[in-house]
Parts: sequence; C-alpha cells; structure tokens
Amino acid sequence: MSLPSHVTIVEVGPRDGLQNEKQAVDTAVKVELIHRLQAAGLKEIEATSFVSPKWVPQMADNAAVMAGIARQSGVRYSVLTPNLKGWEAAAATRPDEIVVFGAASEAFSQKNINCSIAESIERFAPVVDAARAAGVKVRGAISCAVGCPYEGEIAPERVALVARLMAQIGVQHVGVADTIGVGTPLKVQRALEAALQHYPLHEVSGHFHDTYGMALANVHASLQLGIATFDTSVSGLGGCPYAKGATGNVATEDVVYLLHGLGIATGIDLDALIDAGQFIRGALGQPNGSRVARALLVKRAA
Ligand code: HMG
Ligand code: MG
Repeated sequence: MSLPSHVTIVEVGPRDGLQNEKQAVDTAVKVELIHRLQAAGLKEIEATSFVSPKWVPQMADNAAVMAGIARQSGVRYSVLTPNLKGWEAAAATRPDEIVVFGAASEAFSQKNINCSIAESIERFAPVVDAARAAGVKVRGAISCAVGCPYEGEIAPERVALVARLMAQIGVQHVGVADTIGVGTPLKVQRALEAALQHYPLHEVSGHFHDTYGMALANVHASLQLGIATFDTSVSGLGGCPYAKGATGNVATEDVVYLLHGLGIATGIDLDALIDAGQFIRGALGQPNGSRVARALLVKRAA
C-alpha cells in the first residue's frame, strides 16, 4: 500500500505529557502551551483529563484549563473521561471529543482505572451514550496493546477483543497504545491489524511511547498499513503514572520531521512547534526530549 498523503497529529502533550510531571504546573502555563500548539497548526489537541484528582493531581485543574483556552476555529479539543462522573464534569466544558481508556491487559486495567476490562466496558457504555447524544465524538484508547509492565507480551487477539467490545458500545475510533514503548514494527502492525478487524482505517490511530526508541519505526510501520492518525507529545513530554519507567510519547517534532521528509502533509509549522516545545521545557526547567528540536535548535543558533 502507498503511504497516506496527509496525516493527522493528535497532540497529547498537555494531557499525557503533563499528567506525569512531578512538579506542579500552573494552569496558565498549560493554557499557553495549548495556544502555542494551535498557533503551530495542530488541529487536534488532547487538553486534559477528568479523572480522580486523588489519582492524578496533575490534572485537577481540568475545568480551568478548558475555560482558559481561547478556542481557534477548526481545532478540536479532547479530554479523557473514565466514567460518568468524569463525563459530567467534562461536558460542562464543551469538549469536541472524549476519550474512554481501557486496556488489553487485565493487570494494567486494574492498576490504571481500578476495574477489570469487562467492568471498564460497562462503565464506558453510559459515557459513550451520553457523549454521542450530546454530539461529542468518542475515541477509545487501548493501553498495553503490545506489552504490559505486569503481564509481559500481549497477544493481538486481546487487542481485537477490546476493539470489538468498544465497537459494540459505540466507541467511534480506537487508538492502539504502546503504553510502555516496548513494541517493534511487526508487533505493532499485528496489534493495529487486530483493531482494524473492527474499525475502518481512518478510525484507528497509533499512540506510541518511546521508551525503547522504537516509536518512529513504529509510526513508519503503521503508515505502511495506511494508518494516518498518530498521538504525539511536543518535545516528548510525559510518561505514564501506572507504568514505571515508561517515557513520554514519541515527540511531535520528530514525527512531523519524518512525515514531511516522506512528503506527507501535516499542516504543522515545525519551527513554531519547536518553539512550543522550548516554551514548556523552559517552564519545567528540563531539556528538550525531541531529537529533531535539539538538532534544529543547534542549527538555528549557528
Ligand atoms: P475509583 O476509586 O475506582 O472510583 O477510581 P470510584 O467511583 O470508587 O470513586 C472514588 C472517588 O473518586 C470518589 O471520591 C469519586 O467521587 C472520585 P470520594 O468519595 O472518595 O471523595 N471520582 C472522581 N473524581 C473526579 N473525576 C472523576 C472521578 N471518578 C471518581 N472522573 C477512576 C476510578 C477511573 C476514577 C480512577 O482510577 C482514576 O482516576 N484513575 C486515573 C487514571 C488515569 O488518569 N490514568 C492516566 C491516563 S490513561 C493513560 O495515560 C494511557 C493513554 O495515554 C494510552 C496509553 O499510553 O496507554 C490514554
Ligand atoms: Mg499514553
């Protein structure tokens, strides 16, 4: 199959990235990051999550973040909602899309959302119904789609099962997530193909953490299947609070550079994106985690 001519990037740094920060991040900084991302041409931004503040205090300012965004037309803002309580709080902030997040691993489901896979689907069903009735699109995330920190390797059949259950309750899109970044291209392709048994090509995305440095290879392997939507995190922000040692998502800058190099359009201005990454890393007092950003910053300085 030929590679897609356009790819949609879902920027998850403000959520997946900042949920993992040990230090408190001001709401104003989160909002400024989102403003810089949309100015750089990102059309899909995962802004925050409506989860328990006891479990993830970093996202406790969810409503304030959503209220602070000066929304740009053509940009869609998504939020995570694990249950009806999360949906109700999120709905008041008018997200364009919500994300229910399950797992292909029982052990990870318990650690992350405190219930079994079957129970998670039962919890998601009324959330999906309510969101769709309100005209809000529903995405599902399938964590640990290739490997789990507790159960080890995950068979593609388990991804297919969760995708089928999500399709049955009306989830409109699924993200195949390599939560701990252990995947390699063929394994990732098998996991994506499992999801594709239940979803069309344009409703399956890749969400790859870069712990083992395989994420770009996995993006390329996904493109070869025709997958044209990826979750990425500016400057490689993040990790996962329930997957020790996992690093952030693949850096948005690195994926954009790869895509543009392949002649694939993204609508993203790489220079402005690098500035957004420098802004948030500067606010956090951390080095930039994007290889492309680091290389181009050296070139800029020369
Ligand atoms: P629980 O304790 O089983 O829930 O948590 P509960 O219904 O028994 O409620 C317990 C308390 O939490 C109650 O408060 C509820 O009101 C409150 P209390 O009476 O004790 O004061 N509560 C809530 N508060 C605010 N918002 C809510 C909410 N729900 C209950 N929505 C729950 C279940 C799912 C809420 C909890 O386990 C949780 O918040 N987990 C955090 C999960 C999370 O955010 N993980 C990280 C995001 S997922 C991810 O990063 C993976 C992804 O990137 C893909 C990948 O890479 O794999 C998407
Ligand atoms: Mg993630």
